[in-house]
Amino acid sequence: MLLLTFEGIDGSGKSTQARLLDKYLRENGHETLLVREPGGTELSERIRSILLEPDVNVRPMAELLLFSAARTQLVAERVRPALDDGKIVICDRFYDSTTAYQGAGRGVSQQLSGEWLQSFHRRVTDGLVPDCTYLVELAPDTARVRRDEDEADGDRMEAEDQDFYHRVAAAYDALADEHSDRIQRLDGHRSIEALHATIRADVEALLGEDSGTAHARTGSSDP
Ligand code: ADP
Ligand code: TYD
Repeated sequence: MLLLTFEGIDGSGKSTQARLLDKYLRENGHETLLVREPGGTELSERIRSILLEPDVNVRPMAELLLFSAARTQLVAERVRPALDDGKIVICDRFYDSTTAYQGAGRGVSQQLSGEWLQSFHRRVTDGLVPDCTYLVELAPDTARVRRDEDEADGDRMEAEDQDFYHRVAAAYDALADEHSDRIQRLDGHRSIEALHATIRADVEALLGEDSGTAHARTGSSDP
């Protein structure tokens, strides 16, 4: 019924918010599906292992294709069926991550036009466009501190230097300007609870607006 996605650089706090929103919606009687990207299906989780394993040599275009392969499988196997069942689907990352990380971070967008990438995303997601994307914005240096405080070992992407994360953050910023009707900016420096309250109120408004007739958009000009 509704497709909500969370975006931001690693350590921005988006997974925390995706989980809190999922819990809140379930506690309030909604059926939800919470998935993370890459992942969520057997194939997508296997692709995730390849992509995040340290020390594997992955060319930028190969990376773009693998993240997209994981996504197309996830959409077909889980996201589309859940939407058809009337569920609210929450995706921790979606195609904006590919635009920001592979397009800008890895520089693939220097070889491919923005139009090419947009139409590619459309193919990958079978035309599915999020109803709302929450972009958690956090200074890359603060995000790095948060990541360092987490116990987990860094994966291959997290081994990137701060210049990479600055490029990714700048790309998210540009995406939010370009798709201001879909992407909502959130100040990731605020507290977990304050952010959750803002998101909760926004989703309630979305649910109120659409009261049962909402559909994850397909076929609009975005992507
Ligand atoms: P992401 O999914 O964007 O990588 P996480 O949600 O996993 O980020 O959060 C990264 C770390 O920062 C976690 O230790 C989390 O508890 C903490 N964190 C998340 N949101 C906030 C916040 N608003 N303020 C302070 N710390 C936060
Ligand atoms: P994950 O541990 O899920 O990180 P996070 O909690 O920050 O989301 O790892 C996913 C990593 O993959 C993260 O570094 C972002 C990256 N990524 C891309 O580079 N492109 C993509 O299309 C997606 C979905 C993720």
